[in-house]
Amino acid sequence: MQSEIRKELLDAFTSAGDAFLSGQHLAEIIGCSRTAVWKHIEELRKEGFELEAVRNKGYRILKTPEKVTADEVRLGLTTNFIGRNIHYVESVESTQKIAHHYASENAPEGTVIIAEEQMSGRGRMARKWHSPKYTGIWMSMILRPNIPLSNAPQLTLLAAVAIVQAIEEMTDLIPEIKWPNDILINGKKVTGILTELQAEADRIHSIIIGIGINVNQKKEDFPLELQEIATSLFIEEGETLSRAELIRTIFKEFEKLYTLYLDQGFLPIKILWEGYAGSIGKFIKARTLNYTIEGKALGITNDGVLQLEDRTGTIHHIYSADIEI
Ligand code: BTN
Repeated sequence: MQSEIRKELLDAFTSAGDAFLSGQHLAEIIGCSRTAVWKHIEELRKEGFELEAVRNKGYRILKTPEKVTADEVRLGLTTNFIGRNIHYVESVESTQKIAHHYASENAPEGTVIIAEEQMSGRGRMARKWHSPKYTGIWMSMILRPNIPLSNAPQLTLLAAVAIVQAIEEMTDLIPEIKWPNDILINGKKVTGILTELQAEADRIHSIIIGIGINVNQKKEDFPLELQEIATSLFIEEGETLSRAELIRTIFKEFEKLYTLYLDQGFLPIKILWEGYAGSIGKFIKARTLNYTIEGKALGITNDGVLQLEDRTGTIHHIYSADIEI
């Protein structure tokens, strides 16, 4: 975990932009000695940051490492609570597992666990999630909303909207949401979201939102069985993206929507979600474990349940299924 001094140092560089910050000035705003500042600057260099040091001017950051360490994500972060507390791990079984641990240790709301790779990434319906090193975003966010248990799926839908908005902000791509919470580009999956709960009776202790985004993988980086159904932002856009910047943009969009949600409820989020959902108003096939229903997707309920109208006019409520458009 990042030390408070390191956090303040990176916030100071964020506010300064391209300007130099003198060692003396940094020591004053952070409230430590110049030697301590120097020690932290050296730590940043070891992590891969390139810092320019000019006599009588001070320091400025020239280049950041292509990793998603807490320091790298922190530099340029504008949120108030989402992503203010980051646990970074190079390699991990699943960030969900670590998030559950920190959630039960009272980690503050907005805490995020980020990994460079996952050895046993978990997907929905007990599927595996392919999470190779340095190419994607594999992270889990801890939330502590005061909402009834039945409303928890709303936060998965909120996360999907935030990610779509962040992708739109950073690329020319047009992502769409496939119910319940896959994000597709040109018909292939680029993002998956897995929401897990720690709750007791009807009280939520924490909601853990796991987000997996294929960012810089090339086609051959995907196992053969995924190559026709999965894609990455790099494959679709043709350019390498900064994962740290995408994470910051997601945090910003997520915090905005989450604050709106806590203030005004699910309706504004639902409207946005339906606007991004490719299937609403279209004829689709919903394959559940036991049967398949064909019909027109009318929208979602407040619990995130899909409403499907079949040819006889009967409206079905779909809780869990694979959708074919
Ligand atoms: C899906 O099946 O579509 C959901 C995939 C969710 C993957 C993310 S990656 C970060 C977090 N850790 C995990 O083990 N899974 C989620």
